[in-house]
Amino acid sequence: MQIFDSIKKMQEWSLQARKQGKSIGLVPTMGYLHDGHLSLVQAARRNCDLVVVSIFVNPLQFGQGEDFEDYPRDLSRDTDLLADAGVDAVFAPAAREMYPAGFSSSVEVSGEITRKMCGISRPGHFKGVTTVCTKLFHACMPDKAFFGQKDAQQLLIIKKMVRELNFPLEIIRVPIVREHDGLALSSRNVYLDAGQRQEALALNKALSQAKEQIAGGERDIARLKDRISGIITASPQAEIDYIEIVNGEDLSELEAVDGIVLIAVAVKFGKTRLIDNLLVEV
Ligand code: PAJ
Repeated sequence: MQIFDSIKKMQEWSLQARKQGKSIGLVPTMGYLHDGHLSLVQAARRNCDLVVVSIFVNPLQFGQGEDFEDYPRDLSRDTDLLADAGVDAVFAPAAREMYPAGFSSSVEVSGEITRKMCGISRPGHFKGVTTVCTKLFHACMPDKAFFGQKDAQQLLIIKKMVRELNFPLEIIRVPIVREHDGLALSSRNVYLDAGQRQEALALNKALSQAKEQIAGGERDIARLKDRISGIITASPQAEIDYIEIVNGEDLSELEAVDGIVLIAVAVKFGKTRLIDNLLVEV
């Protein structure tokens, strides 16, 4: 497995691979890898000849007072995991390689899709994500890039950017990987103490119950949100950031549950903010 920290070297490797007619799958990550990330790697291996994983904790997508400094990092453990998973190349640039002094460009998707949910609680976050993904796409030149449903809003924003700005690549969605008890895997789960870890199960429980109620015929969004809120606030440490039930393809508002619907929640436990979601089709 090759490890690159230079954009130029990464591009040379990708150009060479493309010349040989090989397809490249990219899995962008911020490292501290878990089985959710590895499921993206497996999807990339199934779909492409070569797999590149990028590891870069992107300062642009963290707001003031967020956890950029504390974000967990372990590059040598990550590269061991990726070598075992059969990855061909890792792109792990330093911040100054990605954003040299004086860097002042950005790529931004505007409109409703970025103005709600995490776009409200984390101003500037998605601009940082779309800017870094643009750079990662240019550095790694993938045919396909793999993103997790765990970050549903991010996935839809990246898809919109790729479509509207004609990036020559395809975005592939990969389902959420959960712990045996239902908690969605996240690099941030390490911040939770034992009590918060237990309480955090309320997220998946609330989403699953909403799905059952929809299967049972419930179509009223306010009632569904109330029940989700009731389940989550039964956990004493839970502080709800948002509960949304929106169109699952563009996050637009719905009058009632209909079509492809995204139920998404963001909840803080102490300093740790967790997100989770479920797609339902009626
Ligand atoms: P990160 O949080 O490291 O996640 C990298 C990818 O793994 C994302 O596509 C995310 O949706 C996916 N992922 C995380 N947890 C998952 C789970 N439990 N099941 C399935 N997929 C999961 O998302 C980012 O990094 C960054 O914003 C990035 C896109 C790399 C840009 O900096």
